[in-house]
Amino acid sequence: MDSPAVNGLFRRLATHRFCQQSRHLQPVVCHQQWRQSSTGQPTSPKRTTAPPPPPAPRTRSRKDVKTTSESNWQQRTDAFPEDRQEEFKKYPMVTADALRSRKERPKRVKMLMRDFIEDSLYNPHYGYFSKNVSIFSSGAPFEFNQIRDEPEFHRILGERYTEFEDKLDEIEYNEARQLWHTPTELFKPYYAEAIARYMVANYKISLFPYHDLVIYEMGAGNGTLMLNILDYIRATDPDVYARTKFRIIEISASLATLQTKAASKGHADKVEIINKSIFDWNQYVPTPCFFLAMEVFDNFAHDVIRYDPFTDEPLQGQVLVDAEGDFYEFYTKQLDPVASRFLRVRDVASRDRKYAHPLQNPRWVRDLRHRMPLAPNLTLPEYIPTRLMHFFHILSRHFPAHRLITSDFHSLPNATPGFNAPVVQTRYQRKTVPVRTPLVQQGYFDILFPTDFGVMEDVYRAITGRLTRVSTHEDFFARWSYPEETQMRSGEDALLGWYKNASVMVTV
Ligand SMILES: C[S@@+](CC[C@H](N)C(=O)[O-])C[C@H]1O[C@@H](n2cnc3c(N)ncnc32)[C@H](O)[C@@H]1O
Repeated sequence: MDSPAVNGLFRRLATHRFCQQSRHLQPVVCHQQWRQSSTGQPTSPKRTTAPPPPPAPRTRSRKDVKTTSESNWQQRTDAFPEDRQEEFKKYPMVTADALRSRKERPKRVKMLMRDFIEDSLYNPHYGYFSKNVSIFSSGAPFEFNQIRDEPEFHRILGERYTEFEDKLDEIEYNEARQLWHTPTELFKPYYAEAIARYMVANYKISLFPYHDLVIYEMGAGNGTLMLNILDYIRATDPDVYARTKFRIIEISASLATLQTKAASKGHADKVEIINKSIFDWNQYVPTPCFFLAMEVFDNFAHDVIRYDPFTDEPLQGQVLVDAEGDFYEFYTKQLDPVASRFLRVRDVASRDRKYAHPLQNPRWVRDLRHRMPLAPNLTLPEYIPTRLMHFFHILSRHFPAHRLITSDFHSLPNATPGFNAPVVQTRYQRKTVPVRTPLVQQGYFDILFPTDFGVMEDVYRAITGRLTRVSTHEDFFARWSYPEETQMRSGEDALLGWYKNASVMVTV
C-alpha cells in the first residue's frame, strides 16, 4: 500500500476538511468528495453502513449548455472552462488494459467510465483489489439456536468483527484496511450447504452417472464456499464426492493463496485454483458444469449513459484526468461499440419489461421538468453493466454447457445519484466512509453496483440462449436450507432474514 499517501489522504478526511462539491450535471473535481459515516459496525447488507442522506444535486439550465459541432457535443458549465475541452481533444484515450502495467495513476488521459472503474478496482499496482482487502471470517460458525434474536446476532457479530480486526492489527496495524463480510462467511457452513444441495439434486436428475460433477467458482474470496460445499458432499454423498471436481477462477493473488490453504483442509486433490481474471479466460470447457458467482457481479465495471431529455439520445460518459490528477466527466454523442451493443441487446431482450430507467417517465413529464429554470441539461446518469454482458459472452463461448448459479444485490442503500448507480465507499479507522461519485482517487474505494435481475436475466437469455429462474435470496434459501440450523430462539431465521436486498439467478 502507498501508505504515506493513504495517511495524508485519510488524515484530511478525519479532520473533516472535505470538498463539499456535489454535482451531477457538471464536471467535478473529485479527489475530495467525502463525507463520514456514523458507524463502523457491520450491517445487513454487507460492506455498507448508514451515511447521512445525499445532498440535492445542483443542476444546470439548458441554455447554459453551449454546443459545438454535433460530433463534439458535451455539456459545459461555468465551473467547466473552455480550456478543458482543449485537453479533452488533445489527451489520448486509454483503456484499463493498457494501464495494467503502469505503476502510477495516469494523468493527462481520458477513458471510458468502465475503464476508469476497472482501473480503480483492478489495476495490479494501485487498484483497490491489489491492496489490503480482507474478507471477514467469523472463526467458528455461529450457533444460531443459542442466539436470542436479531439484535443479539448483530451484537455478537460486532464483537467477532472487532476480535477479527484486532488480530489482524496485532500482525500489522492498518487504519485503512478494507474489510467486508459476505453471506458465505456469516452463515457458514449453512449457506454453502444449501447451494450444495441444490447442485447435487440437479446433478442427480440430469447428469449422474454419465458426467462428473464439475463446479467452477468465479471469485471465491476466502475459499469458504468451496470448502463448505466439498465437506458437505463428502459427508452426505460419497459417490458424488468421488466424481466431483472444483475449479476456482480468482483474480486476486492473495485470495488465491487463502483458497489454496482452504482446499488443503482435506480436498487438495479435488480443487484447482486458476489465478486469473475471468476476462482473460480462453479455455474451452465443453463438459456440463455448474458455474458459481456469488457477490462478484457487483464489482464488474459499468459504463455511464445520460440522455438528452428532449431527443432521448444517449450520450456516453468519459473521464478526463488532467495534469494534476483531477477528474472531469464528459458526455459525448459517440457511443463506443460495447455500450451501444448493450443498449441494443437490452432494447430487444427487455422490451416487455418495465425497468428503472431515466426515460421511463412520459415524455410530457420530462419535457416539463427539463424546461424548468435551472433544470438539468441531461437526465440523471444510468450505469449499464457492460462488463457483465462481456462475462455472459465468455460463458456462452467458453462454457457452452454451464449452469450459472449467482447471487448479488438487487438494490443497495446509499448509492450515488442515478439509475443502477454504485455505492462508492472506503474504510478508515474501522468506519465506512461513503462518497458521492465513482470519480475518486483510484484504488482507495470500493465501487459496487446493484444488479437489475430482470434485465440481467433477459440479457443473459439473449446471449446464451439458456433459460433462467430468478428468486429472492429469502425464497431460494427457504427452499434449500434447513430452518432448524439457522433459526434463532425468537423463531426468526437469520439466513432468511438478512440479505433482503439480494436475489439469486440460476440457469434451468
Ligand atoms: C465480494 S468477494 C466475494 C467472495 C465470495 N464469493 C464470497 O461470497 O464470500 C468478490 C470476489 O471476486 C473476485 N473477483 C472480482 N473480479 C474478478 C474477476 N474479474 N475474475 C475473477 N475473480 C474476480 C475477488 O477477488 C473476490 O474473491
